[in-house]
Amino acid sequence: MNVIPFYHSPSGSFSYIVTNRHSHRCLVIDPVLDFEAQPARTSTESADQIISYITRNGLELEWILETHAHADHLSAAQHLKQQCGGKVAIGRQITQVQRVFGSLFNEGTALTADGSQFDLLLDNDDRLQCGDLEIRVLHTPGHTPACISYQIGEALFVGDTLFMPDLGTARADFPGGDAGILFQSIQKLLNFPDHYRIYVCHDYPPEGREATCSATVAEQRSANIHLNGDCDSYIALRQQRDATLAIPALLFPAIQVNIRAGKLPEAESNGIKYLKIPLNQEL
Ligand SMILES: [Fe+2]
Repeated sequence: MNVIPFYHSPSGSFSYIVTNRHSHRCLVIDPVLDFEAQPARTSTESADQIISYITRNGLELEWILETHAHADHLSAAQHLKQQCGGKVAIGRQITQVQRVFGSLFNEGTALTADGSQFDLLLDNDDRLQCGDLEIRVLHTPGHTPACISYQIGEALFVGDTLFMPDLGTARADFPGGDAGILFQSIQKLLNFPDHYRIYVCHDYPPEGREATCSATVAEQRSANIHLNGDCDSYIALRQQRDATLAIPALLFPAIQVNIRAGKLPEAESNGIKYLKIPLNQEL
């Protein structure tokens, strides 16, 4: 297999194409839709680079896999699906996230909290096929209740659980997030053999370091700055740090779109689509 990373610098996100050399089938993990908050404008420039790679190499897109409902960027899953085909999948617990945010955005009948916006809902230990590649689903909650990781051979695509070792781990203070559960999920990932490669969903490189998408299990185990203590000390560290973090700038637009599998809201009678901003609400 071949892993091709794409870095979206405005959000510090990595998307991946994973190809299967023998069958020309491929999958995409966590594609990003560009969004400029001012003026409110979406564009497919970044996603089109992924599409261009797929078409240039004569690949067939089988799966568009989300690790979770991202809060910092919009998903380009539907654009990829329209252009290349493929099925959009996410963890089954997305329904919990849809319930919480569906209520915050007063979605009513505009959003059914049953995950039906996605083509497939995934459970822990489910297997998907992509040509000769087997994709194993690992439920790794904590950052959100619906977070899943994907194991493909000796590669682990871990979404927002681990960051690169010098940056630590993802926040656990979103609705349904839990630092103790995130710690357990991370242990599950670090139990894989030393040489397995962990591909992250984000990197925010400090000055002097290039954006980097992966480290081995051994590197994460020995050098991750948040993981040198036990579960209790991790919870304390996580809670202390999360209390200092602002909510992501694109949280409201991102979540509204991402809990719909990347579909933009229906246009209103004047043909314009709107996203809502709830005022004065605690998350
Ligand atoms: Fe996230």
